[in-house]
Amino acid sequence: MRFLLLTAAATAATAAYVPGKAFDRFITIWLENQDFDKVDKNSRIADLSKEGILLTEYYGLTHPSQPNYIASVGGDYFGLDHDSFVQIPENVSTLVDLFDTQDISWKGYFEGLPGPGFMGEGSTAFDGSGWDYVRKHNPFISYDSVSKNGTRLANLQSFRDFESDVKANTLPQYAHMSPDMLNDGHNTTLEYAANWTQSFITPLLANEQFMDKTLVLLTYDESATYPLPNRIISLLLGGAVPTELKGTNDSTLYTHYSILSTLENNWGLPNLGRYDVGANVFDVVANKTGYVNHAPEDIASVNNSLSYAGFLNLDPKLYKPIPAPNLQLIGAGGKGVHETVKANWKTASGDMTPYDGSGHLHDGGDGTADPNAPVYKAQGPAASVTSTPSSTSSARRRRRVRSRERVG
Ligand SMILES: *[C@@H]1O[C@H](CO)[C@@H](O)[C@H](O)[C@H]1NC(C)=O
Ligand SMILES: *[C@@H]1O[C@H](CO)[C@@H](O)[C@H](O)[C@H]1NC(C)=O
Ligand SMILES: *[C@@H]1O[C@H](CO)[C@@H](O)[C@H](O)[C@H]1NC(C)=O
Ligand SMILES: *[C@@H]1O[C@H](CO)[C@@H](O)[C@H](O)[C@H]1NC(C)=O
Ligand SMILES: *[C@@H]1O[C@H](CO)[C@@H](O)[C@H](O)[C@H]1NC(C)=O
Ligand SMILES: *[C@@H]1O[C@H](CO)[C@@H](O)[C@H](O)[C@H]1NC(C)=O
Ligand SMILES: *[C@@H]1O[C@H](CO)[C@@H](O)[C@H](O)[C@H]1NC(C)=O
Repeated sequence: MRFLLLTAAATAATAAYVPGKAFDRFITIWLENQDFDKVDKNSRIADLSKEGILLTEYYGLTHPSQPNYIASVGGDYFGLDHDSFVQIPENVSTLVDLFDTQDISWKGYFEGLPGPGFMGEGSTAFDGSGWDYVRKHNPFISYDSVSKNGTRLANLQSFRDFESDVKANTLPQYAHMSPDMLNDGHNTTLEYAANWTQSFITPLLANEQFMDKTLVLLTYDESATYPLPNRIISLLLGGAVPTELKGTNDSTLYTHYSILSTLENNWGLPNLGRYDVGANVFDVVANKTGYVNHAPEDIASVNNSLSYAGFLNLDPKLYKPIPAPNLQLIGAGGKGVHETVKANWKTASGDMTPYDGSGHLHDGGDGTADPNAPVYKAQGPAASVTSTPSSTSSARRRRRVRSRERVG
């Protein structure tokens, strides 16, 4: 009887899945604040990379943590340059709206979250050992389009819910996972977080049901040393990684926006009309779908250390209203901008926009000059990709790098 019930549940979960072109399930797990070169030397991470693809040119978007999380589901960080409480108005859509077009299930799992949809800034561990769950590591909660909708709010759950969903084979098709402030390395060390990560992921990699058509992205939110370009270690793992690619490197330019474009590409989703459009799709997926990524000419000018101007920037001189999405973009899903986005921003369809679909990266410069600031143009189809001169940038790279550790 028990066997029959379990079989029925498993079948139901699988039947509800919307098949993707390269994977049926995407799980992303986020660790905190480490430079590429340091993580690259950790033996636990090296062991894990043998099971997957190491992305050697994956960049965080800015500092500190919170904007990186927010960008990964909304396609911009809106100038955010801090970790405190923020709210983004309801007319800004996210990945959730894209998923709703095909009833693709999703959840966020946050270790130590006191209860589903908890909206506070954080919670303290019961044993008094420090911060546990923090809002700044939750990409969804600051979007009113999620937090003001009870159905969506209920999808923000804890690691205990993850465990029971794995056991019952009822995992959603997309999950963002943030370990607590100790396990993610924020308040501990690189080694502590790497130990946790290996012990957490290894049993999952051995679980056939979990692995089936699953792509796992293990990533850091940002690097630790500010003046360095924001390069981080990211690994693609799971059953969706072909055996012959295990232990290989992929040096395509990626950012957290590549999560959005990869999901759009995999499921043929519409787009948000923001920086999701033009971001490179993970090669393991692009190779299957025939999507053509841009050569990584941007790498030369990447800095991504300071936030550009925007509506969430604390510096009043750097305030700008929320940009209108570019309603004319076609994304990696082969579709236009989501209907809800079009409806919400109809009155702004004549506004200038920084989103041109080119995939170029933007940052806040070095504190004085800002050559990579977003450029506002008339809305229109995707701009063609132009190359950045690399002589100036290699000179910038050779500049002596001051080491300044951070704690955001
Ligand atoms: C962890 O980090 C937070 C924020 O940086 C800090 O307030 C807290 O005291 C730290 N320590 C512990 C043990 O949680
Ligand atoms: C609330 O969320 C559900 C599930 O995502 C969605 O179907 C519904 O349209 C949302 N309601 C509003 C008012 O946005
Ligand atoms: C990580 O694991 C190794 C081997 O089990 C152990 O020696 C080390 O103390 C652990 N490091 C931390 C920071 O927990
Ligand atoms: C992959 O990149 C890492 C980090 O740069 C390097 O140490 C390693 O040798 C590379 N491996 C392969 C197979 O090229
Ligand atoms: C994608 O295809 C290119 C060109 O055939 C190949 O060089 C690359 O290794 C492939 N990468 C992945 C991750 O499949
Ligand atoms: C989006 O919402 C914000 C906050 O309510 C509002 O100020 C702005 O005018 C809205 N944008 C459009 C195009 O309606
Ligand atoms: C990147 O920006 C930071 C400002 O946070 C600056 O200190 C650093 O020199 C810049 N790095 C490069 C390579 O331009």
